[in-house]
Amino acid sequence: MPDTDKTIISVQDVTKRFGSTVTAVDNVNLEIKEGEFFALLGPSGCGKTTLLRMIAGFETLTEGAILIDGDDVSSVEPTHRPVNMVFQSYAVFPHMTVEENVGYGLRVVGTPKAEIDSRVKEAIDLVRLSGLEQRKPNKLSGGQQQRVALARALVKKPKVLLLDEPLSALDAKLREAMQLELVRLQENVGITFIIVTHDQKEALSMANRIAVMGDGKILQIASPKTLYEYPSSSFVADFIGQVNLFDVTEQGIAHGELTLTVDELGAVVLPGVDTSRTYHKLALRPEKIGVARDKPSEIGLVAIPAKLVEDSYIGDQSHLYFETAGGKALSASVQNRDRDDHHLNKRGEKMWLYWHPAHFQPLSD
Ligand SMILES: Nc1ncnc2c1ncn2[C@@H]1O[C@H](COP(=O)(O)OP(=O)(O)OP(=O)(O)O)[C@@H](O)[C@H]1O
Ligand SMILES: [Mg+2]
Repeated sequence: MPDTDKTIISVQDVTKRFGSTVTAVDNVNLEIKEGEFFALLGPSGCGKTTLLRMIAGFETLTEGAILIDGDDVSSVEPTHRPVNMVFQSYAVFPHMTVEENVGYGLRVVGTPKAEIDSRVKEAIDLVRLSGLEQRKPNKLSGGQQQRVALARALVKKPKVLLLDEPLSALDAKLREAMQLELVRLQENVGITFIIVTHDQKEALSMANRIAVMGDGKILQIASPKTLYEYPSSSFVADFIGQVNLFDVTEQGIAHGELTLTVDELGAVVLPGVDTSRTYHKLALRPEKIGVARDKPSEIGLVAIPAKLVEDSYIGDQSHLYFETAGGKALSASVQNRDRDDHHLNKRGEKMWLYWHPAHFQPLSD
């Protein structure tokens, strides 16, 4: 978590155009605090790498300004910025040992030998590569090579570390282990991390705050929990996890509370929701839906009968796909707590889906 309220990176009205047709980054504003673990998340081609490269100084800005620690860095060369970047395809020098790779950035700027030795040792310890100092990269695993790239960036003691998809080359299990390790490392060194990823689970599990990008623009900046539970648009709701969306056909106010009418469910009352905005959709996460054979008797629940069309078993959970009488597709995810629960769900079976209306998230677009 950030220790201070100091802004370390300030991205102000930044636009990047390539030629006359591509706007890779479109009027982005972003303030990143010292000590934050910040994630830039978005689909392929939305401008994440370009934004990171502009912060690092590898790309010029078409419009706007970037301030690092209060200074406009537009005329500062990448090597003189207090940031360091770990690239999307992590490049470690194949002909150098681990130790030589990590010390490279210090050697080129003429750091005294004794200082290089102690800082290299410290960085290698940090990423847990002690004992492998003399190995060449081709004798290291993917995860170990990734740590060499990290140590090489950390050894320069940047104020901000920029990580572009640092774990994308790793398999799922190792990736998860490295995610935890990166969080631990960031807490230890206290350096601000900005990580780019298109993996929403990776961003949710690691970052303090996430900016979701789409088509060069920032669509929402929030904590992982707010982003998931209270997405601000259908795009964000759909990009972060799975979602059921209902079209709103009518909006009204009853006893001071917002009521939205949707097909098949009728009028839904949403206490505490801003009544001054216009809503077009209601979002509902699959895990908020309960599944039962009989109609639930509890008052205040939304309940609808639906036919099971697909049951996708993924071990800890099952994703159940339903269709209502009106033809609406709904998905529910259930935890497989009991070993034998699974066989109870039969395709074509009519069941009841139910949830608390407070789990609806109204969306304006
Ligand atoms: N040097 C360049 N010249 C022209 N267009 C470019 C250049 N670099 C990037 N682009 C375009 O800018 C847009 C954003 O690219 P960018 O690499 O920032 O995306 P990204 O979000 O990092 O995607 P990915 O997740 O695939 O890495 C894309 O449409 C890309 O084709
Ligand atoms: Mg990229």
